Amino acid sequence: MAKHLIDWKYWQDGDIEAILALARFVKHHRWEYQGHMQGRTLVMLFQKTSTRTRVSFEAGMVELGGHAINLDWRATNFTLSKIAFETRYLCRNAAMIMARLKDNADLLEMEKAASVPVINGCCNLYHPCQALADMLTIAEHRAQGTHGARLTYIGVYNNVVNSLVSICAPLGVHLTLVCPIRDASVIDAESRERLLAEGLLTETLDARAAVADADYVYTDTWLDMEFFNDPAQREEKEKRCAIMLPYQLNRELLGDSRAMIMHDMPIHHGYEIAEDLVESPNSIIYDQAENRLDAQKAILLHLLHGQS
Ligand code: CP
Repeated sequence: MAKHLIDWKYWQDGDIEAILALARFVKHHRWEYQGHMQGRTLVMLFQKTSTRTRVSFEAGMVELGGHAINLDWRATNFTLSKIAFETRYLCRNAAMIMARLKDNADLLEMEKAASVPVINGCCNLYHPCQALADMLTIAEHRAQGTHGARLTYIGVYNNVVNSLVSICAPLGVHLTLVCPIRDASVIDAESRERLLAEGLLTETLDARAAVADADYVYTDTWLDMEFFNDPAQREEKEKRCAIMLPYQLNRELLGDSRAMIMHDMPIHHGYEIAEDLVESPNSIIYDQAENRLDAQKAILLHLLHGQS
């Protein structure tokens, strides 16, 4: 049976530690892995827009000696048929599937039908590839590695938060959440309970105290990217902006904090983050985005070859 990556909560802690170590190794021995995907095809299926996920998975497969096919959901027959039927067909050609689907339930249907590994490229509930790249960024930046790092996330409780919550427990990161907007249908209660039980989760609305306590401060979009420019979502966007604007990551909020600035991109400057912080000396945003490449190479190598 194929192993999949829907979220880190479904993986063993030891495998998560091992895959982070592999990502670090691959990054520094890039050309040793040139032939590892030779003759292998990754199918990438996108129901939503993407820059980083698309580019980094395709670049990763090419650098590993394989090939990637990009499918826009709307141009495929997934629009006409059952996910299970189309997935079973894909598995006759592809060594792996990376899918960015809107609904986690559709992704689980794909996972159930697939005989090859399915990687979640971001759904409404989880963004595991981003979370591994985030941990790789902290591990590289901090001499002691991830264990003991203090990460503060300021924003809406969303899919990125769920995967951070899942991955922080095995990697020993203390996470402080400042999330004035919390939709119970989005929150993964199981992962949250685990992090709480391990004493690694603080939840507060005191953003200043949370920043003062942080080695890393992370923010993300206030509205799902598919809705950001949607006229039908204007009212919801305005409502969220009114709640979230006092929590914007800017110099005033940071005060004299020396925390490093993180953002998973795409950036909506003037909303969740002030533009000057993106390019500030403490920003590690581009390192974080670059790390998608090696984090995902490690995921591909682990899922296809069992490497760790
Ligand atoms: N962070 C992220 O997933 O970027 P894209 O939406 O551009 O792929």
